[in-house]
Amino acid sequence: MKMNTTIQQRIEQLKEQLNRWSHEYYVEDKPTATDAEYDKAYHELLALEKEHPEFVTADSPTQRVGGEVLEQFQKVTHTNPMLSLSNAFSKEDLEEFDARLRKLTNRAIEYVCELKIDGLSIALTYQNGQLQLGATRGDGTTGEDVTGNVRTIKSVPLSLKEPWNIEVRGECYMPKKSFVALNKSREEEGLEVFANPRNAAAGSLRQLDPKIAAKRNLSVFLYSSPSVEELNVSTQEELLRKMAEIGFVTNPERLKCQTIDEVWNYIETIGAKRQELPYEIDGMVIKVNDFATQEEIGYTVKAPRWAIAYKFPAEEAQTVVRDVEWTVGRTGVVTPTAVMDPVQLAGTTVRRASLHNIDLMKERDIRLEDTVVIHKAGDIIPEVTRVILEKRPATSQPYEFPTTCPVCHEKLEHLEDEVAIRCLNPKCPAQLTEGMSHFVSRNAMNMSGIGPSIIKQFFEEGLVLDVADLYKLTLDQLLELDKIQQKSAENILEAIENSKANSLERLLTGLGIRHVGTKAAKELAQHFENMKALQEASIEQLLEIDGLGDIIAYSVKTYFEQPSVQELIQELQDRGVNMSYLGKTKADSEASGHILSGKTVVLTGTLEQLTRQDAKEKLESLGAKVTGSVSKKTDVVIAGYSAGSKLDKANSLGIEVWSEQQFLDSLA
Ligand code: IVH
Repeated sequence: MKMNTTIQQRIEQLKEQLNRWSHEYYVEDKPTATDAEYDKAYHELLALEKEHPEFVTADSPTQRVGGEVLEQFQKVTHTNPMLSLSNAFSKEDLEEFDARLRKLTNRAIEYVCELKIDGLSIALTYQNGQLQLGATRGDGTTGEDVTGNVRTIKSVPLSLKEPWNIEVRGECYMPKKSFVALNKSREEEGLEVFANPRNAAAGSLRQLDPKIAAKRNLSVFLYSSPSVEELNVSTQEELLRKMAEIGFVTNPERLKCQTIDEVWNYIETIGAKRQELPYEIDGMVIKVNDFATQEEIGYTVKAPRWAIAYKFPAEEAQTVVRDVEWTVGRTGVVTPTAVMDPVQLAGTTVRRASLHNIDLMKERDIRLEDTVVIHKAGDIIPEVTRVILEKRPATSQPYEFPTTCPVCHEKLEHLEDEVAIRCLNPKCPAQLTEGMSHFVSRNAMNMSGIGPSIIKQFFEEGLVLDVADLYKLTLDQLLELDKIQQKSAENILEAIENSKANSLERLLTGLGIRHVGTKAAKELAQHFENMKALQEASIEQLLEIDGLGDIIAYSVKTYFEQPSVQELIQELQDRGVNMSYLGKTKADSEASGHILSGKTVVLTGTLEQLTRQDAKEKLESLGAKVTGSVSKKTDVVIAGYSAGSKLDKANSLGIEVWSEQQFLDSLA
């Protein structure tokens, strides 16, 4: 009994600590724990909970992705309807809005301006301080219960410090970077791309499998609550402050204004820096600050009269499509890019725009010489929105899609369930060169000096047929290539030679197994420790890895079943490529006991005996966190020769400084 109380107390302590660290990281953006510290505590909690399932509670950080796969979402009726907003498109519209409110109330009004986040609105209900329900807006009266997915959003607290019974509302969104990365990988997979971060967020929140939603990196900003009485606040400004105090993420960017001139200035300021924000906004929401005044002004059936949404004009431009280029990627997917007359759009000159896939091109009926409207998806990627049919030349013909690969000229296939066309020829030079670029890239085998033009020559000259052939290249062969000098040829051979000693996860990344990126490669290498064990692993054994799903397991299994893959791996092994995991196993690195384990370390200056990457990997395998800049949070700076400002800063902050040799000695 005594024993159980102690275990329960430890579980409580770990939960509290992990939730606090997570809050500092995701909500306050001020992390105090290193990734290694977090992982260590998380795994301790996981182990204790596995032994004592009776102590697992819904607010445990291990339970964020505990939700089951659903057949469909349950409908939920909102206790207070989730209204929408009326729109303003100009300063005049805002002036009219202000005049209306002044007339209604007979006084000047104070406003709070907030960014209009381009996502989808959600409502979070807490009972007794525990997250009970996460719901979409739906039609405003009835939404969908997406609790399982909302629980995977790291910035949503699962429990509050006090037993509040409240509902808070806000916007769920996908950061621009995550949107770009998601679409890039979907394009490579031949899947449909999302038109913008809002659709991507909505699509992710409406996933029936919370495991998929969890991978989509969603976030929230909360901005309203029907529970203002419980929260004891009387203005929007106080509400936002109170919500932040309780532990919700609120957007730090907002301004209290007394006049529409002030509001307009703020709109212009934000408009000018809109591109730099890490999330997409589509305007500004202007709200009456005082709640009593809000009630006095009241509502229409659809929207409050006391707020208005100013919408930024859509950033669009017109240009003419002159050509369509088709490129073959590593997985054989053939993607179209429009080549257009140069045009200015949201701060850059745009000449090319992704057309994503053949289905999208057909749907939008994009033809050569068409005048098109372009915009930037996620504020970053130029895309063709639509064709201006009135400007279509009379002689225009539907675009003729390629039926053969632009590189190897084999027939292209339009597979069922895919929006893309694929070249299925495994020997297609484009796929081979792309695959080799991936193999030598920094995150994979890290062979610096081997760029796309050299790889192209390798194939053209018949020096290589596959990645194993890289390991039999000779100096004489390299010197015969175009534009390669003695020194760079030697460097290339050295980089190839050094790569033989890489830890297994780099090879796994480099092989380009579908769905296996650097993260999954590391998990696989750490778990199976050598290639042979991985090659022989069954689906069940693969699924033993925490967080590794069916799709990756199936892809790994089918990859290693191919005779050509088995031959390739044998060849790599015969040429001396390491097939083992050289880092610490999870358990080892947690218990490494090295003096730098759990410390935050900065590398600066030129290292003589190690490359930066090696030093970083060594440190990480000891459980240290390597960061780029020196601050009060830095524990140790490792300085090579000609170290500059970072070393000065470390000295001025009194931070411990080590030489490269001291670091190497500590490893001995
Ligand atoms: S307040 C009564 N504040 O914009 C409606 N909405 O066009 C309360 N939105 O449905 C909404 N950022 O999804 C509010 N700071 C913000 C917002 C915001 C984005 C969305 C919200 C709303 C839509 C209306």
